Amino acid sequence: MPASLRGRDVVSITDLSREELDELFRVARAMEERPSDYYGLLRGRILAVLFFEPSTRTRLSFEAAMRRLGGDVIGFSGVEGTSVMKGESFEDTVRTVEGYCDAMVVRHPEEGSAARAASLVEVPVINGGDGGGEHPTQAMVDLYTMWRFKGHIDGLRVALIADVAHARAVNSLVLALSMYRDVEVYVAVPGLRLRRDVEEGAVRRGLKVFELSPREAVRRADVLYVTRVQRERLASEEEYARLRSAYRVDLDLLREARDDLLILHPLPRREELPVEVDSHRSAKYFEQAKLGVPVRMALLSMVMGAV
Ligand code: NCD
Repeated sequence: MPASLRGRDVVSITDLSREELDELFRVARAMEERPSDYYGLLRGRILAVLFFEPSTRTRLSFEAAMRRLGGDVIGFSGVEGTSVMKGESFEDTVRTVEGYCDAMVVRHPEEGSAARAASLVEVPVINGGDGGGEHPTQAMVDLYTMWRFKGHIDGLRVALIADVAHARAVNSLVLALSMYRDVEVYVAVPGLRLRRDVEEGAVRRGLKVFELSPREAVRRADVLYVTRVQRERLASEEEYARLRSAYRVDLDLLREARDDLLILHPLPRREELPVEVDSHRSAKYFEQAKLGVPVRMALLSMVMGAV
């Protein structure tokens, strides 16, 4: 049996073992199939969502998950209207909110912020994205989607046509994939490399990482993972202009893809994934966004000790 997640922080995806991820997916599957069976599981519990940076899917799917379990949500999305506007520190905000909740989700533009919050408070802290660092619950959703559509994660070949150098979703995904067996990752944006610490950490765990051209990567892949260029993490507008034209996944690029390719994207998308791809048989990114709810239902139930 995996160790219980009760009371634990989730700052990095590597805070969970593979066995714990498998257990999470098993619980998520049951919740996906029969959500109403679980209504009331978190009755009387309060989740705080502290979003110092914009979000649609992460915040709303955490909120939906908590409400589907009969729990309540407090928090903010953007610091407008909070005492942060009066100069209150991150530390004081987090310490105060601890007194109002049973667990908190923190999203903040600074890398390391979730770890800082976790060191300050006793309630479980879930990282909802810390700058260019990690986004562990996105990786959980990504892996769960792969497992649901492919039936397994071991042995998958995953092509990254993404902002591999700056996207926290990619960092967590690559580290997550390194916990599985015989997975190959194809970095397929000429001139862009994974963060060195992420690549080294993943390779040490046995992940095989190759650099391929976008066409070759798409030809070989079981899963194609796309992200937008992370404009807010770049040093200049020139860099944004350069990266924006560095990659694009369109129908032409997909011509030689396997029939059962799965195209995922954490969203939001920009021009890297034109709307014409939405009707392609492999496009599953809106299903992926929807699966964020059962995955987060499972995580909240486990962290709050209800399952
Ligand atoms: C991602 C994020 O915020 O890191 N979005 C999300 O949570 N689904 C990806 C992104 O912003 O590009």
